[in-house]
Order: sequence, then C-alpha cells, then structure tokens
Amino acid sequence: MKLSRRIFVQAATGATVTAEPILARAGTMMADGQRWPSVKVGNLHDLEVNKPVAFHYPDAASPAMLVKVGETAYEGVGPDRDIVAFSIICTHMGCPVAFKDGRFVCPCHYSMFDPVKNGVPYQGLASDYLPQITLRIVPTSGDIHAEAMSGLVWGRTRDVA
Ligand code: FES
Repeated sequence: MKLSRRIFVQAATGATVTAEPILARAGTMMADGQRWPSVKVGNLHDLEVNKPVAFHYPDAASPAMLVKVGETAYEGVGPDRDIVAFSIICTHMGCPVAFKDGRFVCPCHYSMFDPVKNGVPYQGLASDYLPQITLRIVPTSGDIHAEAMSGLVWGRTRDVA
C-alpha cells in the first residue's frame, strides 16, 4: 500500500497533521537533492469534468495528464477537491495510458487506474500506482502548478531523466 507523507507522519507519530498537504509538499526535494520544478499546467477556470489536459512533468520526456474528475479525489485540489494529475506512463511496461470513462486505461494490456484513489491499479497486469503529481492553485489567478511527483515514472532510476 502506498502512503502519503501526511498519512505516514500521522501513523508514525500519532500526531494530527493540520497543515495543508499540498502546501506542505511544495518546494520538496527530489531523491537526488534537486528541487522539484514548479510548472503551470492549466487554470481552474478552463477545466471541465472528465476533459483531461495533457502536459509534461517533471521534464519534457514525461507525459502527464491533469483532470477534473467531478468527485472528491485523494489529494485533489480546487473548490471541490476533484482536480488531480498523474504521469500517464503505465507502471506495467511503460505504454502511455488514456483517460476514458473516468479512469486511466492502458491500451497495451488493459490495466486500469483510478484517478480518484491515488492512481491505484484495479484491473490488469500493472501492480503499482500511477505516480501522482502534487498540484497547487494560485488563489488570485486560478493557475494550477505541478509541484512534485510521488513515485518514479516507469523505467526510470531517478526523478528527472
Ligand atoms: Fe500497460 Fe502492460 S503496459 S498494462
């Protein structure tokens, strides 16, 4: 099972972490000590439910998708906490997944991932979650920024290629 930093801290210390988890992660470092890039990936006012927006993160070789799923999602941002983003490289063998009918579907061997539940695979050969991207919304503009990613993109040994 994959645990967020917030849940891990709560479990390890018994403490309640009251800080906003997105803000707590902003500016965190990658495993190799580099700072995660902050990249504008969309705007709150442009999103429609189940209409994904493609972008790349944390580098130009890593395709990702931003989507408003229309229900409260794990680490979702926005007024309804329903905006999430993921790497779209399948964790089975690296095919790009597509967003279809409210889920990510891999065309190679048909693994399916739930964007509401942290990108958990729930059908097919993939056994690991899609890496979820931490998002931050700028309150004054509605701009959405990618700020970090949980887990490695499939096939990589470090966060940035
Ligand atoms: Fe996606 Fe095999 S590469 S299920």
